[in-house]
Amino acid sequence: MNAPIPARILNQHLIDPEVCIRCNTCEETCPIDAITHDDNNYVVDASICQACMACVPPCPTGAVDSWIKVLTDQPYTLEQQFSWDELPAPQALPDEAVLGAADEQKSGDAAQPVQAGDEGAIMLDGLPSTAAGASIPPWSAAHPYVNLYTHKNPVTATVVGNYRVSGDDTESDIRHIVLDFGSTTFPVLEGQSIAIFPPGADENGRPYHARQYSIASPRDGERPRYNNLALTVKRVTIGHDGSPVRGVCSNYLCDLKKHDTVQVIGPFGQSFLMPNHPGANIVMICTGTGSAPMRAMTEHCRRLLKDAAFDGRLMLFFGARTQAELPYFGPLMKLPRDFIDINLALSREPGQPKRYVQDLIQERGEDMAALLGSAHTCIYVCGLKGMEQGVLQALEAVAAQAGHDWPALHAQLKSQGRLHFETY
Ligand code: FAD
Ligand code: A2P
Repeated sequence: MNAPIPARILNQHLIDPEVCIRCNTCEETCPIDAITHDDNNYVVDASICQACMACVPPCPTGAVDSWIKVLTDQPYTLEQQFSWDELPAPQALPDEAVLGAADEQKSGDAAQPVQAGDEGAIMLDGLPSTAAGASIPPWSAAHPYVNLYTHKNPVTATVVGNYRVSGDDTESDIRHIVLDFGSTTFPVLEGQSIAIFPPGADENGRPYHARQYSIASPRDGERPRYNNLALTVKRVTIGHDGSPVRGVCSNYLCDLKKHDTVQVIGPFGQSFLMPNHPGANIVMICTGTGSAPMRAMTEHCRRLLKDAAFDGRLMLFFGARTQAELPYFGPLMKLPRDFIDINLALSREPGQPKRYVQDLIQERGEDMAALLGSAHTCIYVCGLKGMEQGVLQALEAVAAQAGHDWPALHAQLKSQGRLHFETY
């Protein structure tokens, strides 16, 4: 009998035409010119794209983080993509399309090949974050408004507060910035983000593109019943490679004064949304400013608790270099322990062992496993891109120790919108 010929599968990189705000950020960012556009759509050339992910973090809407599995020899063409008004439905792929273990990506393939039905697999370096987390919200999430304001019609918001929320004894400047929208409609949910245009232009004279920031306040406003929201912004002064830089937008935002105005687009985000049903548990795993959406969710629950309308469990794993670098440390530690189970992972606190969030997840394995076993538990991960893999491995270890079938559980968490990643 002939051995079956494994057909190759491509996780084709596409841009969601319904979500894309045509801001040109992805085309500008792509290092190998795989992205182009016409008057209708931004599109990705499958014969060029290497899935390097460079375009994904800068995209304000997440439209560029779209992936559909196709047979490698039948990718969507540029002409097809130019004509779309929405992404096509996922294709049914033949079983025999499963790759052999040794069937690695060959150089020159347009994007990363994946195994058919690999939803439960641990994320590998370079795979899009959507491979590890859900692309739909939990069933009881409120319906979000998205893209109400685009680069063509940004909204002006007024700064009504700008406070430092990192300790005085650290160089890390993290600010709590409150923006007021006056009488302009700007409805948001916890877990959503906005983007802000820094004024000015880059060295080529192109206006700076908008940078995205998670909303740190609950749906009814930083100040309840006012039309405002808060951001948690870290001033970028050192680049990822350790060299000094002056981050354009973060410095602009951190230097804003009360009554200054900013140009905002959004809101963005349709899946990183909290559950709203009674008894829902929320596990929050974050580093640094990744705490912003966690603050929003926690504060929403705290406000519900006041009316005895919250009865779930909140468990937080929060990583930072030192206690002083943890934004909102003081207010966080004042929250009642029977309301939120707080686990701090400090990596550079003098006199303390180095801890990452994934270490604490394992240390709290028994409690985590109990939460993992509940269909009412939703998990949110936000912050450093680098922690995704470690967190997934920790969840897998905890689940396996408790006798859960992790691949099945992971697949279920994703298909039920209960595991979410937002990393940058
Ligand atoms: P740029 O001028 O764009 O970059 C200058 C240099 O600094 C570049 O070399 C760049 O590689 C490097 N750099 C960029 N960011 C960092 C960093 N964080 N650490 C070290 N080096 C860096 N930021 C927040 O502060 N709070 C948030 O809540 C937040 N939420 C986000 C949510 C999403 C979904 C995404 C995609 C990003 C989020 N960011 C958040 C990051 C934010 O969008 C900007 O990337 C960040 O503020 C840096 O922008 P900049 O204009 O200051 O730096
Ligand atoms: P580290 O001391 O190793 O840098 P940052 O301050 O750069 O935003 O990082 C926030 C926290 O996340 C720091 O404590 C940092 O530790 C930690 N961290 C760095 N890499 C990882 C990783 N791969 N997984 C989890 N945490 C990480």
